[in-house]
Amino acid sequence: MSSSSTPFTPDQQKAQAALKALEFIHDEQILGLGTGSTVHHFLAALGQRVQQGLRVRGVPTSEATAVYAKQLGIPLLNDEEPWDIDVAVDGADQVDPQLNLIKGGGGALMREKIVANAARQFIVIVDQAKQVPHLGLPFPLPVEIVPFGWRTTQRHLENLGWPSPLRYKDGQPFLTDNGNYIADLHIPEITDPSALDSSIRQIPGVVECGLFLMMTSLVITGTNSGPMLHRAS
Ligand code: A5P
Repeated sequence: MSSSSTPFTPDQQKAQAALKALEFIHDEQILGLGTGSTVHHFLAALGQRVQQGLRVRGVPTSEATAVYAKQLGIPLLNDEEPWDIDVAVDGADQVDPQLNLIKGGGGALMREKIVANAARQFIVIVDQAKQVPHLGLPFPLPVEIVPFGWRTTQRHLENLGWPSPLRYKDGQPFLTDNGNYIADLHIPEITDPSALDSSIRQIPGVVECGLFLMMTSLVITGTNSGPMLHRAS
């Protein structure tokens, strides 16, 4: 445990939250495996437990997670039958006091939402900086859109009132694992997440929105005084 003079770094806080989440994982469970740097810690620790004999099967939310889970020897489920997931564990970009989330900083929002929605329990692991009084800037809201007609879809998004630039990587539009684009909505303060989510999802060409509302069962936050747990009320 760290003292106030030696605070944990954000990465140490992520590892702390990830290790705490392992306490909620049990033999024979089917697990949703999230995406990102916090989940990376979780997968590493889960892989060790699997090596020691823990029997679980995972549903990955991205190609990157699938590759890493396979390296670690974590068995993965395919898509041959509907998933019946006991616990999904994932990171987040922002968490508000109602445990609503912004996700999709890594572009995996659509698969993450499908998997979280198929889980009986959705555990979110974050470092302390992810806790915010309200969702919005400095973190833009990712929205996955299909490439066909993307400029038109983007114009509809901007008509909602905020700049919505397309995400680029290495000079090219960023491509999700689903072959889609991401528009990042620069909204200073999301005052009504539910209304915004509905408005965004009504736009043809929008595949998924990075707002995860009323989905979270438990948030585990790594802090300078150890992991803090916030359960949905
Ligand atoms: C992936 O698209 C995201 O939703 C991640 O879950 C989120 O960005 C958190 O990532 P980190 O754990 O790397 O902060």
